[in-house]
Amino acid sequence: MTPLMPNPVKSAPDSGAQLFKLELDTLFQISHILSRSLDLQETLQEVLEVLDEQAGMQRGMVTLLDPRSGELLVSAVHDSRAGEYAQVRYQSGEGVLGQVLELGELIVLERISDEPRFLDRLGVYDRNLPFIGVPIRSGSDVVGVLAAQPHFNVRLLDERARFMEMVANLIVQSVRLHNQVERQRCNIRAERNSSHRVVRGQYGFDKIIGDSPSMQQVFELVHQVAKWDTTVLIRGESGTGKELIANAIHYNSPRAEGPFIKLNCAALPDNLLESELFGHEKGAFTGAINQRKGRFERADRGSLFLDEIGEISSVFQVKLLRVLQEGEFERVGGMRTLKANVRIVAATNCDLETEVEAGRFREDLYYRLNVMPIYMPPLRERLEDISALARFLLDRLAALQGRRLEITESALRLLLRHDWPGNVRELENCLERAAVMSESGIIDRDVIYLSGVMEQQIPLKPAQNLGKTILDDPDLDERERVIAALEEAGWVQARAARLLDMTPRQIAYRIQTLNIKMRKI
Ligand SMILES: Nc1ncnc2c1ncn2[C@@H]1O[C@H](COP(=O)(O)OP(=O)(O)OP(=O)(O)O)[C@@H](O)[C@H]1O
Ligand SMILES: [Mg+2]
Repeated sequence: MTPLMPNPVKSAPDSGAQLFKLELDTLFQISHILSRSLDLQETLQEVLEVLDEQAGMQRGMVTLLDPRSGELLVSAVHDSRAGEYAQVRYQSGEGVLGQVLELGELIVLERISDEPRFLDRLGVYDRNLPFIGVPIRSGSDVVGVLAAQPHFNVRLLDERARFMEMVANLIVQSVRLHNQVERQRCNIRAERNSSHRVVRGQYGFDKIIGDSPSMQQVFELVHQVAKWDTTVLIRGESGTGKELIANAIHYNSPRAEGPFIKLNCAALPDNLLESELFGHEKGAFTGAINQRKGRFERADRGSLFLDEIGEISSVFQVKLLRVLQEGEFERVGGMRTLKANVRIVAATNCDLETEVEAGRFREDLYYRLNVMPIYMPPLRERLEDISALARFLLDRLAALQGRRLEITESALRLLLRHDWPGNVRELENCLERAAVMSESGIIDRDVIYLSGVMEQQIPLKPAQNLGKTILDDPDLDERERVIAALEEAGWVQARAARLLDMTPRQIAYRIQTLNIKMRKI
């Protein structure tokens, strides 16, 4: 530090008046140090230095109370021999310092080694010198202890102790400020963590529905690859949940705290794609008013999701290959080569192998991307997920619409008979339309029909043949039971009647009174 006073005093002042002047100057200097910086440790260290050099109080030490453990932790020591003191702590009542903390009173010892409670954990004290320990008080609370050994004017020990109390009063302002800042920092951190948990929660596995073995396999893979920085290529038809999985990979990876940046490669022409991905320098092209970071740079220490990767031009394929291989790139119009630490997750619904064979997609890029492919199974191949998916999607819609939405068993069975070329997204749209059309909030098969997705139906496969079990379900009401039987019987009334142990006349009557619309298959 730069001393403010011209001549540091090392020798003892002759009179009380001189000592008083010296102490006043020191207090002034200390208040100046404390107002300069928010770094408590650093300022305390400087204060102890000034105490030694200006006021003859050597081997100073500040210990502060750790509110969580109730122990005194050493914050600063002015002694080059002090070594590693971060681990040194005193409990209330323990040793001389613990005594000051417990009683909240100063302690003045004429010769420190005469004191039986003296622990000398730090091993820095001069055993023949006096010792002064004063509480650092914030209001009625003791928040720490300031201690030092006066090495002159030892006859004026009480005077020196009063002086130390004044120093402690100055220090407490900084301690308070420091604690306040720390508390705020903790709050901000806690807030950030909790908002992060919310985001992460949205992409936790519980928000991705799939009990089918093929989806369970996908989850298993996601779990495995999330741990590493491997490039992942998510493949699958439109609407199968590729983006959802990309999110899950990022938010379940060690990079979860870092950014997750997305870029839809199909949405932009080549030149814009390049400046979006790599950024541009000021004046690189008309409209480039300012320098701009690209998404690759912004994804540093996080993940970059390149959606619809199969759609990029051959020129852009070359540029992408380079950045994937070397992790290096330049901003558009820039000379500087930049580097970024980015994990790539890409997705496509293209048949990339065919594209490679046809020469439309570079083989080397294909191999770069296809390190770890994850195939999203189409919905028609995992119809067992439909009920849970429909309920999940309806709950989400219900929350948006602020009302209850329910789906009937017969509506669910109807959903099983569609082949869902648009996969989960199509199911989502279908349910949204149905919800809009259902005034009561109950979505039954008629509303599903009205929503118009069901023109194409697939015949029931044996695996989905719900057979007797559904008909025996005691929770099914009369109408549901008749519909189930009709579905089971391919809407042939006589056959359905046999399933229900009814005569054809009885079932015809039920169909009429229960207002069941007959479908042709
Ligand atoms: N397993 C699932 N569980 C819950 N919701 C899902 C699931 N799969 C997809 N979804 C929902 O379906 C919609 C489509 O999913 P997503 O956008 O991830 O599909 P995609 O494969 O990226 O489709 P596209 O190829 O059309 O971009 C989203 O609203 C998503 O939340
Ligand atoms: Mg997508």
